[in-house]
Formats: sequence, structure tokens, C-alpha cells
Amino acid sequence: MFLAKTVSHSDRRPVLDVRLPGHPRSLWDRLDAVLDDYNPFAVEDVDIDITSNPTVHCRRIFFFSQNDRDQAFEAIELNFGSEVLSVTVVNLLNDNWAERSFGNLRAVKIGDLIVTPPWDRVSHENSSSYLIEIDPSMGFGTGHHASTRLMLRSLLEQKPAIQKSKHILDIGTGSGVLAIASALLGANAITAVERDIDALANARKNIARNSVCVRIKTIHAELSELQNFHLPKPDIILANLTGAAFQKYQDLLEALGRPSGLLMISGVTDSEEQTTLAAFEGKCAIESRYEEDGWVCLVLRYHC
Ligand SMILES: C[S@@+](CC[C@H](N)C(=O)[O-])C[C@H]1O[C@@H](n2cnc3c(N)ncnc32)[C@H](O)[C@@H]1O
Repeated sequence: MFLAKTVSHSDRRPVLDVRLPGHPRSLWDRLDAVLDDYNPFAVEDVDIDITSNPTVHCRRIFFFSQNDRDQAFEAIELNFGSEVLSVTVVNLLNDNWAERSFGNLRAVKIGDLIVTPPWDRVSHENSSSYLIEIDPSMGFGTGHHASTRLMLRSLLEQKPAIQKSKHILDIGTGSGVLAIASALLGANAITAVERDIDALANARKNIARNSVCVRIKTIHAELSELQNFHLPKPDIILANLTGAAFQKYQDLLEALGRPSGLLMISGVTDSEEQTTLAAFEGKCAIESRYEEDGWVCLVLRYHC
């Protein structure tokens, strides 16, 4: 493996460019599982190598801090060695990359629900029962990723349970999209939790845009800190995280949830599904399963 510390701009977003031979799904999944411990907050496929060498695939991973990024760099070296072609440390100029890369987004329809950026709203004003406006920014969750769409599909199907619920907990709210969808579907009270302050700021703006502030409380916290907040036990927990995170946090999730409560999880790849389910064995039964593009969403019910 070729490891290089290269570009260093003073105004900075800590990034790793990882090049792998081809597009081996299992290797990317293992890499995601290792990187998950270092708080990555966005991933982009980069085509720098595709034209010159189609057998090389490059991904750019954005981190919250240089420290996280540097530790991730060492973890890749330790765990993957020559399986990885190269890992390059980059401090990208923070020139509103999110706004630039989201500029062309259009609305996405999931059943009766449309998620739209502000500039596409007028075309959809009267075309759907539920219209959610999300300003694409630092919070993940514009409806353009399968893991979000799967959660929205499962929320639509859980509408009766949502309307009956007293409290819903949305862990890793990102743009706030799932909390907003729950409120529009008739939830009474939702707590939306996010560890990334930039994403949380985006969620708060989106919650206000959709006029659902009264029913959604936001908290800046890590999942692992949530027990300190003494929240009311949720009837439904929503979490679009990663297979690795669910395996790591299954005990915490159980402690936060309630007997017979629903746990709706997404962000699991099909190759992580069995190990993720194994982590919940004996605690939950599967109520529904949704799949798109190799991503899986599971609706689990805790035993009584
Ligand atoms: C894949 S995004 C999901 C966003 C949105 N809920 C959706 O479904 O589109 C995961 C979000 O969870 C946040 N997150 C990841 N791990 C977390 C943790 N341990 N505690 C709190 N937030 C976390 C990330 O910062 C990110 O905003």
C-alpha cells in the first residue's frame, strides 16, 4: 500500500482519498466498518482514476476532525495493508463543497411522500400528500440515498403506529428528514439526536422550514451519551446508521427502547445484514424488511 500525506491547505476539511483495485463490495464493507469508529460524516465516489484506469476505484471520505482522520489513516494501514492501493491524506479547501455538490438535486418521490430541495418545491406543491422541504447542506438525508428512502417507505407503512406513539426517538437525524416525516405523518413528540453540530444546525433549519418545531425537540449528543438525558422511553426508535454501529450499540439501543417497542434501522448493507441481525437475536423479532440497491432497512420489534 502507498501511504502519502500530500496537499495541505490552511482552510481545511479533513479528508482521506482511498484507492482500491476495482469495486470489491466486501472490501468496501470491511473498510466502512473500520472507518465507522473515526466519525466519518460523508463519503463521495471520486472518478479521478476511472478514465485513466477503470480497474481502480477511489472514494473520498470526509471526517469531523483532523485527529479522527489521522487515526483512521493509521487504522487502514494496520487492518488492510496491501489490500488497499493507496490512502492519501488531504486537507480540502472548505469552499462550500456540500452546496456545490448538491446544487443539481431534484425532488425525490417515495410513495405519497416527496422530499424536495427549496428550488424544486413549486413543481410539487399539489402533487403529494406529504411534502418535505430539505435544504441540502451538511446534514445527510435529502432522499437521494437508498438508506433514507427505505426508512421513509417504512415510516409510511408504520403510519398507524406513528399516530399512536407518544414519543419517537430519531438517532442520527442528519438533515432531520425522518423526524420531519414522522411529524407530518402524525407523531405527537419526536426527539431528534445528532452528534455533528453542522448537521444539527441544518436539521433545525429544516424542521423550521416544515413548520414542525412544536413537535420535534433536537439534542446535540452521541448515541452513547443518550442515557444521561433521561428521555421518556420511545415507542419507536429510528436510526439510519451503519451495520457496524448497530452491532456495537445494540445493548444501548435496547436500554433506550421499551418492551414491545419498534426499532427501525437502515444503513445496513446486504452483506452486513446477517451479522447485524445476529446482534439483536433473542431481543427482537423482524416485522418488515425493505431492500434497495444492496441497502437493507429492518423494522424490528422488541420482545415484551
Ligand atoms: C446516514 S446519516 C442518516 C441521516 C438521516 N437520519 C437519514 O435517514 O437520511 C447518519 C447520521 O447519524 C449521525 N450519527 C452517526 N453516528 C452517530 C452517533 N453515534 N450518535 C449520534 N449521531 C450519529 C451522523 O452524523 C449522520 O448525520
